Amino acid sequence: IVTSGPTFEPIDPVRYIANRSSGKQGHAIAAALSDLGCRTTLITGPTNLADPVGCDVIRIETAREMLAATEAALPADIAVFAAAVADWRTSGEAQEKIKKQPGATPPSLEMVENPDILKTVSASGNSRPTLVVGFAAETNDVLTNASEKRARKGCDWIVANDVSPETGTFSGDNNTVHLITDGAVEDWPRMTKTDVAQQLAGRITQYFEAAE
Ligand code: PMT
Repeated sequence: IVTSGPTFEPIDPVRYIANRSSGKQGHAIAAALSDLGCRTTLITGPTNLADPVGCDVIRIETAREMLAATEAALPADIAVFAAAVADWRTSGEAQEKIKKQPGATPPSLEMVENPDILKTVSASGNSRPTLVVGFAAETNDVLTNASEKRARKGCDWIVANDVSPETGTFSGDNNTVHLITDGAVEDWPRMTKTDVAQQLAGRITQYFEAAE
């Protein structure tokens, strides 16, 4: 299972909250795993990308739909969570377009927390994948924040992703990551998202070969 892309959280029938994820990193990981012979389900938020060859692709919009699709795709040996899931949604989607009234105070949005898909799957007992890999998108203190996130979410590995604005990571073709596994941190040089995907898929292969 690979998650990818943003989620869209509706405000009313025509507006939504989203983020700048293009899906390039997640789709490349799904393609790399599929190329290695893994039966791969890609669960993706809205993107402009073509479906990776050989993958089952499930399209969703909201975080709650992504959680439901992920749980429906279990069991799996490997789950990689590269999606940029919205942490919050509005507490109630307006059923009609919110009207702009002349002179009226702008509306305020009340937010509620979305389910955490990575955390839920990491704690899913018998149906927990053997290897759960999260991402941590950080703009500062990348390694410290990512290590804490790995512990908090209960995943096995976390890919610490520097997304500070000068890196151009969101939507760009390149990425700067560190792979944090049990007790080890690997600093990877800046490379294309395709290369990150292939290197990660290679490390996943090594993990399963070592366990045999
Ligand atoms: O799509 P691109 O333009 O190629 O950009 C790639 C990327 C920057 C989006 C990607 O490499 C990346 O870092 N993905 C994680 C983005 C993110 O939302 O990180 P986070 O630190 O907020 O979340 C930590 C982890 O929890 C992630 O694995 C995320 O998928 C997961 N999560 C977060 C919130 C939530 N409600 N459910 C989750 O599963």
